Amino acid sequence: MCGIVGYIGFRDAYPIVIKGLHRLEYRGYDSAGVALLDETSNLNIYKKAGKVADLEGFIEGRDHSGTIGMGHTRWATHGAPNDRNSHPHQSGDEKLAIIHNGIIENYGPLKEELISRGHVFKSDTDTEVLIHLIEDIRQEAEIDLQKAVREALKQVIGAYAIVIMSKEDPEMLIAARKGSPMVIGVGKNEYFIASDATPIVEYTKNVIYLDDNEIAYLKADELVIRSIDNEVKTPYVQQLEIKLEMLEKGGYDHFMLKEIYEQPRSIGDCMRGRIYPLEGKVKLGGIKEYTEKFKNAHRIIIVACGTSWHAGLVGEYLIEEYARIPVEVEYASEFRYRNPIITENDIVIAISQSGETADTMAAIEMAKAKGATIFGICNVVGSSIPRLSDAGIYTHAGPEIGVASTKAFTAQVTALTLMAFYMAEKKGTIAQTKLIALLSELERIPSLVERALQSDGLIREISEKFKDSRNALFLGRGSGFPVALEGALKLKEISYIHAEGYPAAEMKHGPIALIDEQMPVIVIATKNSSYEKVISNIQEVKARKGVVIAIVTEGDTEVVRMADYSIEIPSADEAFLPLLATIPLQLLSYHIAVLRGCNVDQPRNLAKSVTVE
Ligand code: G6P
Repeated sequence: MCGIVGYIGFRDAYPIVIKGLHRLEYRGYDSAGVALLDETSNLNIYKKAGKVADLEGFIEGRDHSGTIGMGHTRWATHGAPNDRNSHPHQSGDEKLAIIHNGIIENYGPLKEELISRGHVFKSDTDTEVLIHLIEDIRQEAEIDLQKAVREALKQVIGAYAIVIMSKEDPEMLIAARKGSPMVIGVGKNEYFIASDATPIVEYTKNVIYLDDNEIAYLKADELVIRSIDNEVKTPYVQQLEIKLEMLEKGGYDHFMLKEIYEQPRSIGDCMRGRIYPLEGKVKLGGIKEYTEKFKNAHRIIIVACGTSWHAGLVGEYLIEEYARIPVEVEYASEFRYRNPIITENDIVIAISQSGETADTMAAIEMAKAKGATIFGICNVVGSSIPRLSDAGIYTHAGPEIGVASTKAFTAQVTALTLMAFYMAEKKGTIAQTKLIALLSELERIPSLVERALQSDGLIREISEKFKDSRNALFLGRGSGFPVALEGALKLKEISYIHAEGYPAAEMKHGPIALIDEQMPVIVIATKNSSYEKVISNIQEVKARKGVVIAIVTEGDTEVVRMADYSIEIPSADEAFLPLLATIPLQLLSYHIAVLRGCNVDQPRNLAKSVTVE
């Protein structure tokens, strides 16, 4: 949520900063701004409500020289998304500028105190309070900027990743983090700084992930990292695994479509080196050390938000079915504010694409304090949740740029499938022959997903019929229910059509009242244990003149006869239904949103990485 980028070195900062903002725009896109220090220490600040492209247009023809710069793309929390509230913000004397991702929770009392001391504020943001606080401390105590930043941060409650520039210290950028991500790219006589590695990867593969309560002092030829208590820290330089082409659209109209089409590869990458069908084995290095813990676990609690929560529901189904461990799936935002009963025999699995979701992080911290073992399933390597977890596995889906999650979801489901099989094998709750059969089939899933994608043309045609719908209902049973929830979420996120996912049998307890000839009902009706029951549910919809779009198993005739539209997916064991049935639903929401003229990759009001609670 909010993207920040900074550069200090020998090159022109502006092109690097603006390109970085384009890459980070998925984190927030209601306003954007840059600050640049030119050769004579002039601080040029440009900021605008709207997209990064609007800002770029605004800056064209204006002075954007300088080898030190920083930029921000905003997802508004405090203050409406307008020019005034856009970052960077400045101190009262306009010598300091700041960009910030996160929330300063105690900004209210700090602001009051600063106003009483004569400070005048230009925006409604919490961020402006922090830069005035730094200015105030610096002037009052007559101390240097570095010390003033440290002292100010000690007074702040909340989360932040900040970058500060100063006209009076024009050779330096100061960056700090607590609870919001920050990566430093290490070049030769240059440093980059960003919310994630995407703006950095084309310049250097050497990165340092800043830890909480660390402050980095960056000069073109020097980097010093200290704790908030001023102890020197030794930075750990890591190599980035992402490649530049992963961040480009690669000929697709949208990142979302590219990412939908990447799924045969991303699912394959998630299981690569982890499954051995001939031996009937799953190898998960990340769990190995914790195998006994898993075997003896009384309970698994899955915490997550959004799409990752839907993956958790699939995980519940798979882990209970195969490993016979009781599973609870919790919205991280609810879990953290309850007083849940957690013991040392519980394992908490946190699922997160970004590895930065504030609520999920807080839920982990709470469960950890109560003694649970924490296991992370994340996509972004080096992000906060893997670092907070005792162990975990990466999903290896590659960077997901479209705000609506697609390939990250199927990779999460793949990781959970692997975990369920792994634990089942270790606990002896699955017959070896069955596991061998399942693993052999799992190995073929990427090619089956490829086949599911072939319905794209048909799905586009069907989408034409429903592009003007105002509501939609998604129904599924068993593990088809979380797929229905995910299908509904995708549609509402990107097309703004109101959609609900429901367990098919629950329809008659309420949503059936909504059904009429205007209501598209998307039903997961594949051939599995609940096939007959789903057929009854379809009949209930048809009896009320609802329009049925059925996701069916290849070769099905019965549902096809009843449904208004049918989309086939390849036949596979029920364990893999979520991986296959999700594909047509992603395509359906994508095409409907495109036909409605929506901004598919950056839907209104949303952000990809929600680093505020
Ligand atoms: C946001 C995104 C969703 C995502 C959710 C959880 O709402 O728009 O796509 O599912 O956050 O994010 P996480 O990174 O923790 O999976």
